[in-house]
Amino acid sequence: MNILILGSGGREQAFAWKLSQSTKCKSLYIAPGNAGTLAFGTNLSISANDFQSVKNAVLKYNITMVIVGPEDPLVKGIHDFFLGDNELKHIPIIGPQKDGALLEGSKDFSKQFMLRHKIPTAQYQSFTKETLANGLSFLETLSAPYVLKADGLAAGKGVVIPTTLPEAKKELTEMLANAKFGNASAKVVIEEFLKGIELSVFVLTDGNSYKILPAAKDYKRIGENDTGLNTGGMGAISPVPFADEAFIKKVEQQVIIPTINGLKQEGISYKGFIFIGLMNVDGNPQVIEYNVRMGDPETEVVIPRIKSDLLDLFVGVANGNLNEVNMEIDERFATTVMLVAGGYPEDYKKGNIITGLEKVEGSLVFHAGTIVKETDDKHQHVVTNGGRVLAITSYGNTMDEALQLSFSNAERINYDGKYYRKDIGKDLKSYYSKA
Ligand code: AMP
Ligand code: GLY
Repeated sequence: MNILILGSGGREQAFAWKLSQSTKCKSLYIAPGNAGTLAFGTNLSISANDFQSVKNAVLKYNITMVIVGPEDPLVKGIHDFFLGDNELKHIPIIGPQKDGALLEGSKDFSKQFMLRHKIPTAQYQSFTKETLANGLSFLETLSAPYVLKADGLAAGKGVVIPTTLPEAKKELTEMLANAKFGNASAKVVIEEFLKGIELSVFVLTDGNSYKILPAAKDYKRIGENDTGLNTGGMGAISPVPFADEAFIKKVEQQVIIPTINGLKQEGISYKGFIFIGLMNVDGNPQVIEYNVRMGDPETEVVIPRIKSDLLDLFVGVANGNLNEVNMEIDERFATTVMLVAGGYPEDYKKGNIITGLEKVEGSLVFHAGTIVKETDDKHQHVVTNGGRVLAITSYGNTMDEALQLSFSNAERINYDGKYYRKDIGKDLKSYYSKA
């Protein structure tokens, strides 16, 4: 098969790494890809949101399957674009159509969906500019902290959690009346604050049957001990100690089955990943959000733990017989530590030369924001090209063993402004010392 992966992050490089191991994968293309994906296929300098250019590439390279990494093209309807085009409609896409992508594209839709299908989630109400006054009164009935979510996609920044009532009121007013997140905050969901510990559960589905992939824990804040601004994710661990078999069973019964059945009942044909952001509240799952793609950096620990051929699983999704495909999971731990650019998630520099990649031993390096470029010395170098630069993934028989490897290899790589969190996994250690 000739495969095209859309996207350019660590998630897409992890897909490329894994798919390139399949004997059924003849050629692999990544659009636009990064310096790391070059080792596994051909990078095409096409934006994942430029559907016409994606079409041209699909026809030119005789692509037989498309894997969509990020949410943007899904929410914008890339799958529908393919289905509506006579030259493309027979080509399977891993990723939902627009109606399914609304699970991520609209917080209000996803909350209503959960309510319709009795999926456990925080109580909420939605407000618009016209009902701002009601929203402000509603805030008065809640206790701190307050959870305000822009309805639409806001590049991961649309959730604000003010700790005082005046701040919450100011924030709601800015989101609705002053369009703080543009059209994405034309509607705002206000919901009950859930107290617990977060994790991510991933499901791959053909619309009927599903596979539950390994769960992972992400580290969202830039600073150690979960302080500072939110990022795309600074590291990830899989498996998650508190997501034991009994907990995952609850997630399956209370969340996954009702989600798959709900999609079917509503006539939404869904082929792709469902990423369920969960809060474990005293041993019970509550859904924080759905995403319609894999997580990044969670993919960098989840995919390495899948022993089976990922392409077989994708073909099962495309053909609607995923239930017939076997999936084997590696029992070992996988950890990833994200190296980021100095200043991220605020302003940061691009174009810094990365050295030491060849010194890495025993870890997988998944590139995120990197590119090969000629620099002032007239030589080609791998340079930084984004906020999140490289994900260092390691296996271990214990979480600590895997983490030690990731951290020691993180030290071997250098570029100006390199930063990473040295406390990834620290919060989980107590679960193991208790055992
Ligand atoms: P999201 O962009 O939906 O992933 O939300 C960003 C972060 O906000 C989540 O990862 C949670 O840490 C936090 N969050 C979202 N909803 C809630 C909630 N109802 N209660 C507590 N924290 C929340
Ligand atoms: N790591 C969180 C996300 O991919 O949304």
